[in-house]
Amino acid sequence: MTHHVCPFWVGYLLASPLRRLIQDPDTILRPYVATGMTVLEIGPAMGFFTLPLANMVGPRGKVVAVDVQEKMIRALQARAAKAGVGDRITARVCEETSLGLNEFDGQIDFALAFAVVHEVPEAAGLFADIARMLKPGGKLMAAEPKGHVSLSKFEQTLGLAGPKGFSIDARPRITHSHAALLIRKP
Ligand SMILES: C[S@@+](CC[C@H](N)C(=O)[O-])C[C@H]1O[C@@H](n2cnc3c(N)ncnc32)[C@H](O)[C@@H]1O
Repeated sequence: MTHHVCPFWVGYLLASPLRRLIQDPDTILRPYVATGMTVLEIGPAMGFFTLPLANMVGPRGKVVAVDVQEKMIRALQARAAKAGVGDRITARVCEETSLGLNEFDGQIDFALAFAVVHEVPEAAGLFADIARMLKPGGKLMAAEPKGHVSLSKFEQTLGLAGPKGFSIDARPRITHSHAALLIRKP
């Protein structure tokens, strides 16, 4: 693995329930996620957002979670099973430069990339993969940590999404984050 990725042990910190005090998954995601949806999450680590997403989509929905680190995926699966939502989550290990997951092309209602795009070697390729998987009109929330990513770098990264079929729909406010809601153009 040549690119910097979040160390495995940081996954425990990111999954801490205390984080909800500053970044509450329900507040952040509920406006965009409904029962029965199929949601894609890129870089879930141990599933701080994945488990609440599984609750939001309900028993008839699905969350597809894909991470480059197998240990993160195994920990996510264990936490999901313990929470009783394992059957709603398809968790896969991906390549650094490809999500794979071709069987979900055109099937995703909403995608989340939280604190992960700056770890991906080719953001343009990531946006292309997500655009391929989203339904027309489907939305992607991209959020990056202010501590690691400057505003100008975030804007530069968002600029890579336009040529891949996205336009900016909204600018949600999320504590300690730069965030944008992108919509896949029909
Ligand atoms: C900083 S953590 C954020 C975890 C989670 N989104 C959160 O906010 O709690 C970044 C995660 O993205 C994963 N990641 C890094 N590069 C990736 C890539 N190219 N494709 C998919 N996941 C990747 C890392 O393994 C790690 O689990």
